[in-house]
Formats: sequence, structure tokens, C-alpha cells
Amino acid sequence: KLSIRDLELQHKHVFVRVDFNVPLTDDGTEITDDTRIRETLPTIKYALQHKAKLILASHLGRPKGKPNPKYSLRPIVDRLRTLLDHELGEKINVAFSPDCIGEIATEMSRQLESGQVLLLENLRFHPEEEANDPNFAKQLASLCEIYVNDAFGSAHRAHASTEGITHFVQQSAAGLLMEKELNYMGKALEAPEKPFVAIIGGAKVSDKIQVIENLLNKVDALLIGGGMAYTFLMAQGQDTGKSLVEVDKIDTAKEALAKAESKGVRFLLPVDHVLADKFAPDAKTQIFAGTGAFPAEWMALDIGPKTVELFTQEITAARTIIWNGPMGVFEMAAFAAGTTAIAEAVAANTQAISIIGGGDSVSAVKKAGVSDRITHISTGGGASLEFLEGKKLPGVEALTEK
Ligand code: 3PG
Repeated sequence: KLSIRDLELQHKHVFVRVDFNVPLTDDGTEITDDTRIRETLPTIKYALQHKAKLILASHLGRPKGKPNPKYSLRPIVDRLRTLLDHELGEKINVAFSPDCIGEIATEMSRQLESGQVLLLENLRFHPEEEANDPNFAKQLASLCEIYVNDAFGSAHRAHASTEGITHFVQQSAAGLLMEKELNYMGKALEAPEKPFVAIIGGAKVSDKIQVIENLLNKVDALLIGGGMAYTFLMAQGQDTGKSLVEVDKIDTAKEALAKAESKGVRFLLPVDHVLADKFAPDAKTQIFAGTGAFPAEWMALDIGPKTVELFTQEITAARTIIWNGPMGVFEMAAFAAGTTAIAEAVAANTQAISIIGGGDSVSAVKKAGVSDRITHISTGGGASLEFLEGKKLPGVEALTEK
């Protein structure tokens, strides 16, 4: 796979597909978290320092193929200027094209000078983007001589700007963020330093079962928290009261437990729980330990202190740690302690390579204020999940082909 570093960028139109799908306020005017923009700065900086005529393109939200001011990339222009001023110590010209194809985009890209930036409007304002329409891909390609994909977060989508375009440009390469993501995640899965421990959480077994199946071939220990733990506990015969259980996944859970046993993987489930009498921030709570039946009308919404201790032992001994998904309903303060404690335990192990993916675990780590002690925080939600599932990502494969 080519890297942006392998290419001669000077005075060329370089089209960089970025993932600026950032969270905005409800009216779509303010950026609430600019991590994805900041993580792309090394690539942007590299291209500008090598005197590229830089075209940036992204989707934002799911506008369903129609222009919609709520999903405009316009609010990103100012933030990008500010970040670039700060990063490069000089004012960078950042222009905005109100359409990603057509006359305006073509003209603005033609007028672009080396060292300047043109941000295109939301790619998904055209249904052809998600349909991976070859004609649309060709129009995007016509804006540039070189295509770079830095949008790891969108690499699981075979869309015109992530896959189709590579068929119409002379050169395609990976950007620096894309490379960084693939290096960390790839190395963890292919040649992890052992012990390799994965922490998987979240509400549903059905969302994570493929990740679990894939990781069972690789890890020494799998720590399961969050709502999905209760389907596994039920599969082991425990009465879990009113806890969330996917009854139709009990057999799947049993198979995963059997596979873990045959592979010699330590499959750890919560041994105590924070129970609530209702799913609400002001619920009554109690700690429940043991393998007996949960009190009938209560539900588990977080892992308990003994589980934190058990999981922390594994995390502390690990040399590679992957974490995806919260340990409880951490958006409610009463059920955040487990997730926060796990974030702290992961951060405290400075001997290990620690990799965190998925929106919820990333925000947990930020909330706990320990993100600077994590080796790699992925910008991919769905993409990092599919990577952990062992799937090939179309946006990455398209670069490999060339
Ligand atoms: C993401 O936020 O996971 C990516 O930007 C992809 O967005 P999508 O799920 O709308 O394709």
C-alpha cells in the first residue's frame, strides 16, 4: 500500500478523503468534539508543507442524499483555519465549495494555489456517494491528480469517495492517520505482545458477537462487561432478574463460552453487579454478588467493585489491551463507576500497548481524564469494530489494489 509519503505532491491537486463526521450541536452550527479534525492535521500539514493544492472532502451525518443545512460542513472551515494557524504558525487560506462536484467545485479547485486548502461540501448531499456511483466517483476524481484516503472512520464504507474514486485516479495512497490506525490495530491483532487482553462491553451480544468470535482466536483473556454480560450469565444458568438479556442469543453465547474453553482463553464475566430498581438516573441501587438469583425486579446496570478488581488484575498483567464498549450505563452517574475504573486501570498500565475504539469507550476515557495515557484512541466507530471482527475494509482494500 502506498503512503502519502511515497508521492510527489508539489503543485499537484491532492484530494484527501477525511472523516470530518464530527458531533455538532442540534442546530448544526457548533462542533462539540473536534478530535477527528485534529487527528487529520498531520496529513494536512504534510500535504501543505509539500506544496500540494489540497482538496478535503468528507461526509457529515446521514442527510440521505439531499442538501440539508443541518449537515453542512461549513462550520468546519473556521475550526480548521484556527487549528491550522496554531499547528503551522501561519495563516492558511481555507476556501469552501458549496458543492462537492460540478462547476463551482471544478472552478474553485482550478484556482487553488499550492499550499492552499479547499474544503468541499458534504459528499452525502448526493445519493451517488453512498451508491458508489462510478460517474460521481469520476467527477470527484476529475478534481485531482492524486487521491489520499485518511478517513479510517469511513473505511468500512464502499462509497464513491472511499472506494469508487480509486478507479479513476492515477495514484491513491493512505494518509498518515489511516496509516497510524492500521499500524496500531493491525499489529495488535497480528503480532500482539502477550498477554493480550480484550475488554468488550456494550448493551448487546448481537452487536459484538463477531468481534468476540474473532478475538477468541487471538487473546489470552476476554473481559466482558455491559448489558451483554447478562446474556452470557443467563447462558451459564444464572437468573439475572430484569437485566437486559437477548433470549435469542443464548445459544450463540453458549457457543462462544465453549469456544473460549476449547481455546484456553480466560472468559471473564462480572462477578458482582450494581443493581437498580429501574432504568433511570435516580433509581435505587444495591451491590449484588454471587451466582444466586438476582432479586426479582432488579436489573444490573454496572459492574461491581469485585469485578473491577478481577478485571484490573488482568489489565495490569497485560502487554496488549484492546477495549471496545462501556461496562455499564455510564451516561448515568450512578452507573459510571465501573467504566471509569476500567479506563483508569487501562491508563495505569504504561507497559502495555492500549487501544481504544468505539464512541462510548472513547468518551469514557476522555471523561475519566486519562486519554493521554492510552497508546492509541481510534477515530473509528463502526470501522474499528469491523477491523476487530477481522473484516477487510473496502476503503483500505481499494488502496491495496493500486
Ligand atoms: C462514523 O462516524 O462511524 C463514520 O463517519 C461513518 O459514518 P456512517 O456510519 O454514517 O457511515
